[in-house]
Amino acid sequence: MFKRVVAGAEALALLAIAVFVIMLFANEPGGGGASGGGPGAELFSLRCASCHGSDGGGGIGPRLSDGAVVDAYPDIADEIDVVTNGKNSMPSFEGRLAPQEIEQVVEYTRTL
Ligand code: HEC
Repeated sequence: MFKRVVAGAEALALLAIAVFVIMLFANEPGGGGASGGGPGAELFSLRCASCHGSDGGGGIGPRLSDGAVVDAYPDIADEIDVVTNGKNSMPSFEGRLAPQEIEQVVEYTRTL
């Protein structure tokens, strides 16, 4: 009886460790995992965060977070257009990022 309880506790502890390890990997920044941001997040921190802030809160460039960019560009195609072609001191990313990457990073800005 006592042995069974101990085995149960061990199984639970192992399960907890397994879950913990999986979460560690899922949250690894830029790990390319399905969760933890994905490719859009990685592109954003590499290409955009220097001007727009690591959380999109703004800096040299305007704030994108808290729905600002969704308000400014209800149609995602218009935001893709700004990032592709640039706007005033906002650099153009055409030729520097693949169209698919621009789409990924734009989608990410809309979740900030
Ligand atoms: C060199 C600094 C710089 C970098 C790097 C940069 N931006 Fe910008 N961004 C700006 C500036 C400055 C503006 C404001 C342009 C204006 O409206 O005159 C801007 C504007 C924008 C806008 C329009 C915001 C609005 O409300 O009209 C979006 C969307 C945007 N940037 C996304 C991005 C994304 C995505 C990246 C990375 C792929 C990026 N930016 C990289 C400086 C930068």
